[in-house]
Amino acid sequence: MIDKVQEYFIEISNKHEKKSGYNYWDNHVKYVVQIALDLAREVQADLEIVEISAILHDVAKVLELRENESHNVVG
Ligand SMILES: [Fe+2]
Repeated sequence: MIDKVQEYFIEISNKHEKKSGYNYWDNHVKYVVQIALDLAREVQADLEIVEISAILHDVAKVLELRENESHNVVG
């Protein structure tokens, strides 16, 4: 499951990079995932839920969904 979510996010990040020059996966989200997992281990949170949430936390930005609204709410 996580592999498929990550694969999807990398795919849309690569497409977004062709238009914007910024790759969300390479420059931001992969680091967020590592920090989120470190924190999750400290508090014994569900690692799968945390990892999927971290991967997708900026999905609205990458997909340019409803850009006049807060991306964290849309995502
Ligand atoms: Fe972010």
